[in-house]
Amino acid sequence: MSQTPVPQTKVKGLIEEIKAQAALALQGATSRKALYEVKVVFLGKHGKLTEVMKEMAKIPKEERPQFGQWVNEAKTALEEFYLRREKELTAQELDRQMQVETLDLTLPAVPRELGSEHPVDKVYSEMVKILSRLGYALKLGPHIESEFYNFESLNMPAHHPARDMQDTFFVDDQHVLRTHTSPVWSRALEQEKPPFRIVSAGAVFRCDNDISHLPHFHQFEGVCVDEKISMADLKGTISFFVREFFGAGLKTRFRPSFFPFTEPSAEVDCTCPVCRGSGCSLCKQSGWIEIGGCGLIHPKVFAMAHLEYPRWQGFAWGFGIDRMAIIKYGIDDIRLFPENDLRFLQQFRGLP
Ligand code: DAH
Repeated sequence: MSQTPVPQTKVKGLIEEIKAQAALALQGATSRKALYEVKVVFLGKHGKLTEVMKEMAKIPKEERPQFGQWVNEAKTALEEFYLRREKELTAQELDRQMQVETLDLTLPAVPRELGSEHPVDKVYSEMVKILSRLGYALKLGPHIESEFYNFESLNMPAHHPARDMQDTFFVDDQHVLRTHTSPVWSRALEQEKPPFRIVSAGAVFRCDNDISHLPHFHQFEGVCVDEKISMADLKGTISFFVREFFGAGLKTRFRPSFFPFTEPSAEVDCTCPVCRGSGCSLCKQSGWIEIGGCGLIHPKVFAMAHLEYPRWQGFAWGFGIDRMAIIKYGIDDIRLFPENDLRFLQQFRGLP
């Protein structure tokens, strides 16, 4: 099949025209993305200049080198043009970005909302502080506790009905999430050399959840082991604590009760700190408010810890920290505690 030769002048004109079009388009591109798109249109695999190359076949053999040279020259020129323009656009884009993102170091900082000490933490620190003045040292224990220390060492053997008083979260057959802070001191009975006074405090866990109970709450216990300890020592200590914590003039009273690890045992009430005894909704008009339990450490608990009884005797008392915070600050829903809402927490800022 014979081909009609393309005259040289026409070919050159075509190449020149594509080159001129490409140069114009490259110059007109205002972003690197647009520039790249122009490059593809002219220099890409199916670009206009590439298409011209396909004319090669129609050109007489002897003219092909000249033709190839023209196309290559156009290609090189356009590629150089492309690179130059890309540099210009990169610089322009950078300038624009710098203007938009200028950092004014003299501007005032965006105000950050400040947190506030949690009321439960406040009460915890205050309780520890008051007792440290009486020579009590803070002692902590594990949250995952063995059944032995949580129950057995405190005179609650397996199947003891008292275990039902505490809705227990079991971790496995032999471990529980501690249901009270008492195992901290039953461990201390084994470890410490009497006489000693300790505060055991921290998080405890029970399967309970309503307006006045959380599954994760906090307890605080004071324990004193010494010679010749009596209920009078216990009463004196708790009365001192109540006055220091809620304010002078509040009375403390004991009501007989039962705990497996103390004998005798008592429930502790104090004058309602809100109405100071005259009757209000917090104390249900009784003038008294229940704050915890106490008693003299049971001889069996001493025996379990291999401490000689009655040479060594002791008392223990325990309060709920969350409950103390509720009474102290007049909070009506315990479920506000774990939410950590700043609007709630900020109300306690600056309070004692
Ligand atoms: N461990 C008890 C409980 O969680 C509270 C308690 C009662 C602690 C009497 C004591 C105590 O130290 O003497 O129910």
